[in-house]
Amino acid sequence: MSKLIVALDFTEEEKAKEMVQTLGDAVDFYKVGLELFLNSRGNMLDFLKKENKKIFLDLKFHDIPNTVAQAAKWAADLGVEMFNVHASGGRDMQKMTVDAVNFEAIRNGVKPPLLIAVTVLTSFDEEAFAEVGFKKPINESALQLAKISYETGMDGVVCSALEAKSIKQSFGDDFVTVCPGVRPLWAASQDQKRIVTPAQAKENLADYIVVGRPITANQDPYQAAIAIKDELQ
Ligand code: C5P
Repeated sequence: MSKLIVALDFTEEEKAKEMVQTLGDAVDFYKVGLELFLNSRGNMLDFLKKENKKIFLDLKFHDIPNTVAQAAKWAADLGVEMFNVHASGGRDMQKMTVDAVNFEAIRNGVKPPLLIAVTVLTSFDEEAFAEVGFKKPINESALQLAKISYETGMDGVVCSALEAKSIKQSFGDDFVTVCPGVRPLWAASQDQKRIVTPAQAKENLADYIVVGRPITANQDPYQAAIAIKDELQ
């Protein structure tokens, strides 16, 4: 069954906290990105842990291998369920990160967080992608990057639910798929282009769906979350 992660894309910490209270027991997994992490000075993580929520820390690390591996150790100590790095940071960066996180988890006697790779940002079109130097089309590059992530021991990738099935076919059932771009039929698509419904995401073997505005901008966020979870059953 696909699990629901709610994206807390809020400019103010207080608004994000209110949303978590509103959603109550309907949601137990939240994504915290750069904006909320920085504007709350990291405090949002403590708040979510106090509320017994799971956390996807979406900071998309991208730097030289040593820097990312050292930062990843700190992320692993924050008690988050998953966090991510850019696959285009390369093989050595991901391998060193996997090793550092596993070492840290063993040292602390805890389960390591899931390490997720971002392949190609969905904001790229082919022209902009070629302009920064990539020679192959986006879909081929994304698969090539996912292969490196798989080979280095990363746990999975962020991808469209439209690609989740083929990722599973290529790298096995255990390779985790985290899928944004999900819209129930009753929600507006907003700026998301390649969208699938929660039911289609489940059908396509998405392990996690990441949903923001269909829930957080809804008149009744609690009922919206329940409706999406029902669709995932
Ligand atoms: O509001 P919405 O459901 O579109 O939010 C989706 C979340 O997933 C946002 O936080 C967005 O930044 C994130 N995301 C995405 N596409 C990606 C990677 C992350 O929409 N490829």
